[in-house]
Amino acid sequence: MGYESIAEDYIAAEEALYVAASRARPAVANRRFPAEKREKWYRRVRAVATWLDTNGPEPDNVLAKIMTPYEIEIMDRLAARLPIKYQYRGLNGLREYARLWTMFPELLGDAPPQDVLELSCGACGIFDVLSRYGHNVKSYDYLDQDGKNPLGTSYAGIHKALGVECQHFDGRARPYGFAPESFDIVLVHQALDAYGAVGEWRQIVDDLLVIARRSVGLVLNPPARKDQENREQGAFFINEMKDIYGAIVSQCPETRLPTLVIHKNHN
Ligand SMILES: C[S@@+](CC[C@H](N)C(=O)[O-])C[C@H]1O[C@@H](n2cnc3c(N)ncnc32)[C@H](O)[C@@H]1O
Repeated sequence: MGYESIAEDYIAAEEALYVAASRARPAVANRRFPAEKREKWYRRVRAVATWLDTNGPEPDNVLAKIMTPYEIEIMDRLAARLPIKYQYRGLNGLREYARLWTMFPELLGDAPPQDVLELSCGACGIFDVLSRYGHNVKSYDYLDQDGKNPLGTSYAGIHKALGVECQHFDGRARPYGFAPESFDIVLVHQALDAYGAVGEWRQIVDDLLVIARRSVGLVLNPPARKDQENREQGAFFINEMKDIYGAIVSQCPETRLPTLVIHKNHN
């Protein structure tokens, strides 16, 4: 069975839950999860699956476990203020699966178990994928205890469903307090922009390289301020990573954002 048919089975399973919830609460459904909103995210699942059918490894049994809905009732997803874009395990998992295949393909095979630090884990797609391949993943995210709608809490239902014990840290407060060389691989996907201005990214990477025994993996969001100066600084940062650390630059198959793999011993 290829990725596209695995994706269709997943979408059918997810959709059955939403249709049942729509029948029970049509007014809530129209307001909070209308069919066209759901379809938008299903299209993205299909697009990653199509990419993997051409570029990915043969799908294995691990994938089937990830491509199932979160065990969270639809109304509980709403009560937990879980935004619709985060509700799809098939997308959260498959996006990370495709990223990891691009960045660290050995982790999806029979590589010996690695200690992986997932910073700003969000919906924990990395944990969902890598822990099922036997890796030891520790997940951290930001929690604004005093915020009105604290970042991080919207993911709490997913963390519980996946059995993730998410711990907290603030990417703006360096150094991060992890012991030197305490993880094989440190991953920061789409969050460096929350840790500091582009001009600080190099120092942040240096700190992450101290924590890593082997490699750092990044998926870069555009800088928080999207003006010409920041775009240029972003491009400069990527070139600097290539020049200094021999960073391997590629592209996230789902979001098209730049991905960087930085090996500690790159020579
Ligand atoms: C765009 S999401 C990315 C989530 C996930 N890594 C992914 O790629 O799907 C940004 C993440 O950055 C986290 N974040 C926001 N501010 C942060 C901060 N000050 N320190 C650490 N993480 C932060 C958010 O909680 C969220 O998990």
